[in-house]
Amino acid sequence: MILKDRIAVVTGAGSGIGRAGAEIMAREGAVVVVADRDEAAGQSTAERIRAAGGRAEPLRVDVSVDADLERMVAFSVDTLGRIDILHNHAGIQVGGTLEEVGPEDMDASYRLNTRAHFLACKLAVPHMKAQGGGVILNTASNSGVFLDHGMLAYITSKAATIMMTKQMALDYARHNIRVNALCPGFVDTPFNEPYARQMGGRAALERYVRETIPLGRWATVEEIAESILYLVSDRSAYMTGHALVVDGGECIA
Ligand SMILES: NC(=O)c1ccc[n+]([C@@H]2O[C@H](COP(=O)([O-])OP(=O)(O)OC[C@H]3O[C@@H](n4cnc5c(N)ncnc54)[C@H](O)[C@@H]3O)[C@@H](O)[C@H]2O)c1
Repeated sequence: MILKDRIAVVTGAGSGIGRAGAEIMAREGAVVVVADRDEAAGQSTAERIRAAGGRAEPLRVDVSVDADLERMVAFSVDTLGRIDILHNHAGIQVGGTLEEVGPEDMDASYRLNTRAHFLACKLAVPHMKAQGGGVILNTASNSGVFLDHGMLAYITSKAATIMMTKQMALDYARHNIRVNALCPGFVDTPFNEPYARQMGGRAALERYVRETIPLGRWATVEEIAESILYLVSDRSAYMTGHALVVDGGECIA
């Protein structure tokens, strides 16, 4: 087990990629704080982990609420003793061009995709410094490394998250804290439902994925979880400040 007894906190762990990441960390021996705004979803992930013989603690956390992030980091440190891994995963996708996106959409995207990651890192880093190191993974998107039509708020906030990740990596490398970004492409989770509607329905999105993605298909959450495990474990011990794109070749097409 490559994460034996490490304490990991994962936001948005009640579904999709966050859940698969929490499950693979638990399978590798970590104790996982399953943080999600949806309490039932968080509990369900924790139950799945326990049923598979792992250790998990569900915690209701809305990452857009500062007090919830404070409670989340305090729970890890005070109740579980430390925080070895922080995976900031919860995010929001608001579609639209400049004329369609409102200031409130821009604010919401920044608040969830960038500011929440910032604050969770800010709360966790003093503890990681004191304990001699730690690993942070910030979920961005391949939409943070290239451009897409009608995705202004999403792309702006995800690109900001990647640069913020690199800056944090630079500032904290000497404290043995590694900070990397995860940049998935199309992963089949409920997160894409609004995008499917924007494209005119699920069939249109399926066609788009088949025809546009070089590998010709969606990623599974299990495939993304393998990259998560790599980035939060010692397998990537010499990697920091990296934005790992896992997108079936979309960004090179
Ligand atoms: N699915 C994709 O194709 C894809 C691609 C690139 C990046 N991402 C990123 O992955 C994340 C979404 O993950 P997913 O695809 O597994 O989605 P998902 O919809 O399956 O799961 C998202 C989870 O996050 C939780 N959540 C939402 N808002 C929250 C909040 N404010 N506080 C706490 N929890 C909250 C939800 O309750 C849900 O359990 C986002 O950051 C998104 O930008 C997804």
